[in-house]
Amino acid sequence: MPVRSPFFTSAADVRAALAGASYLADDQIAGVVHLADRLGKPVLVEGPAGTGKTELAKATARAAGARLIRLQCYEGLDEAKALYEWDYKKQLLRIQAARVGGEPRSWEEMEEDIFSEPFLLTRPLLEAIRATEPVVLLVDEVDRLEVETEALLLEVLAEFQVSIPELGTLEAAQVPMVFLTSNDTRELSEALKRRCLFCYVDYPTPERERAIVLARIPGIAERLADQVAQVVAALRGLELRKEPSISETLDWAAALVLAGVDEMDAERTRESLHILLKYRSDIELAERRLLGDAERRGPGQQRGAPQPTGRTEPQGATLPTGASEGGSRR
Ligand SMILES: Nc1ncnc2c1ncn2[C@@H]1O[C@H](COP(=O)(O)OP(=O)(O)O)[C@@H](O)[C@H]1O
Ligand SMILES: [Mg+2]
Repeated sequence: MPVRSPFFTSAADVRAALAGASYLADDQIAGVVHLADRLGKPVLVEGPAGTGKTELAKATARAAGARLIRLQCYEGLDEAKALYEWDYKKQLLRIQAARVGGEPRSWEEMEEDIFSEPFLLTRPLLEAIRATEPVVLLVDEVDRLEVETEALLLEVLAEFQVSIPELGTLEAAQVPMVFLTSNDTRELSEALKRRCLFCYVDYPTPERERAIVLARIPGIAERLADQVAQVVAALRGLELRKEPSISETLDWAAALVLAGVDEMDAERTRESLHILLKYRSDIELAERRLLGDAERRGPGQQRGAPQPTGRTEPQGATLPTGASEGGSRR
C-alpha cells in the first residue's frame, strides 16, 4: 500500500493547525484526526447539521496545505459521477476525424486509441487516488447515497485502487486523507463503519462556541460573543423542533454586529430570534421560556438584559449564565 508522510505530529499539533485555519476543534476531534492521519484510515464524521462536519475536512486540508477534493453525495449519484466515465463526445470526434482523414485503422486499433487515458474523465474518487500531491478527500453527506453506491465507495476505500475494464487496474499513488460526513439520516453499512474511525461532532460547549464566534466574526465584542453563546446554549436546552446550529449562531452574531449591537438585552434577543430559529412554534417557545419575564414587565422596564431573575420560572428556563455542555440530543 502506498504510504504518505503524516500531515501532523500530535493531537495538539492538529488542534493548533486547525485553529490556524480558523477551525476550533475540541480534544476528541483533534485526537481522531491525528489518529486517522497516522493510521491512514478514513474518518466518518457524524452529528447534527451545521456543527462543522464539512468544515472539519476543509480546514484540515487548509491546515495541512493539501488540495481538497470533494465528492458531494446525493440520491442517484452513480459510478460515472463518483469514479470515472468515458468522454463519449471526444471519442466520437476521434472516430469521425479518423474517418474524414481516411486513416486506415482496424477497429481494434481504434478501440485501443479511444479507450485510453486521454479519453477518461476522472471523477473525485479516482482523482483523489491518482493525485501525487497531498490531498484531502471529502465524501460529503454519505448517508444520502444508495446502498449500492456505498458499496462502490467501500471498495475504493478498502483497496485504494480502481479497476477499469478497458484500462486495467489503476493503483493509488498514495493513501489520501479521507473524511466522510453523515447527518445520520440512515444507518450506514457495518462494513463502511468498520473501515473508518468514528468522530461524533456535537453542538459545542458555550466556551468553544464563543471562541468560534470570536474567530469567525471579525470585530465582535467579547461580551457579545459570550452572550450569543449563552443564549444559543439555552435555546438548545429547550425542546425545539430545530435547534440552532453553529451556522445559525454565526449568522446571528454577524447580524448583531452589522446592526451595531455590542451587548444583548431581552428586546434585541426577541427581535432577532428569527435568525436563530426557523419554526414559528420554536420562536414562540423561546419567547415564552427565555424571555417570558420580560413580557410581563411594564413598558419602562423592557430593556433589561435577559439574565436569570433568581426566581423560578413556572415553565422552567430563563437565560442561564453557564449552560450545560453539548446541548440536547435526539
Ligand atoms: N469548530 C468550528 N470552528 C470554526 N467554525 C466552525 C466550526 N464548526 C462549524 N463552524 C462553522 O459553522 C458553519 C457550519 O459548518 P458545516 O461544516 O457546514 O456544518 P455541517 O457540515 O456539520 O452541516 C460553517 O460556516 C463553519 O465555518
Ligand atoms: Mg455539511
